[in-house]
Amino acid sequence: MNDDDKIKTPLFSHITCEDLDHIYEPSEDSFLLIDALEKDLQVIRTNQPSVCLEVGSGSGVVITAIASALGPQCHYEATDINPRACRITRDTGKLNGVEIHTTCTDLVSGVLDRLKGTVDILLCNPPYVVTPSEEVGKGDLEYTWAGGERGREVMDRLFPDVDYLLSPKGLFYLLVLKENDPDDICDVMKKLGFSSTTVLARQTGPEKLTVLRFCRQR
Ligand SMILES: C[S@@+](CC[C@H](N)C(=O)[O-])C[C@H]1O[C@@H](n2cnc3c(N)ncnc32)[C@H](O)[C@@H]1O
Repeated sequence: MNDDDKIKTPLFSHITCEDLDHIYEPSEDSFLLIDALEKDLQVIRTNQPSVCLEVGSGSGVVITAIASALGPQCHYEATDINPRACRITRDTGKLNGVEIHTTCTDLVSGVLDRLKGTVDILLCNPPYVVTPSEEVGKGDLEYTWAGGERGREVMDRLFPDVDYLLSPKGLFYLLVLKENDPDDICDVMKKLGFSSTTVLARQTGPEKLTVLRFCRQR
């Protein structure tokens, strides 16, 4: 692999301990998603993406990593329900020399009309931990991990909007946990018109994590 095929881990030294009481600290799952994007970089570059959107960007390391690899010919957007995460995502971009436009919104509701049919790369590392439903959306930190029943309550609300957002050549990268039932997620997405591929899987401590890629069925 030559240097052009690698994705650098972004700098995030500006994030303070106090920030980490409110936003998601870049972790194994964040880095697995970055590794999956690196593994798929040729596929992504061949697609010549113009718009890349991350849903739930947290610290912004994932969108910044892909932005650093693809460069300024692509426009970078991120959403998060947490305003501090949006600010830190912009700052992570700046620290690494890339510009990221952020929108504080529930999933994609605040960008749906503006980005309809334009998103070439959609990224999401959702709150995926299996929790009681009451924990979903309880506070800044619960937003980062609490996924409710089967860990699916947040990501399941995103799936119906994928068709609306993605361009004809669009790719959707989703990080999931074994307990989220990846096979069922692929079935749900198939019914919505998307085929699936496993890009990368890794056991990290007790978590079996997988990055899935979806594209429109031909
Ligand atoms: C597991 S963290 C991932 C953060 C970052 N993408 C990463 O990989 O390090 C999930 C992120 O989704 C955000 N989030 C949770 N529910 C959301 C919602 N309904 N709409 C938008 N963002 C949400 C959280 O605030 C958090 O930043």
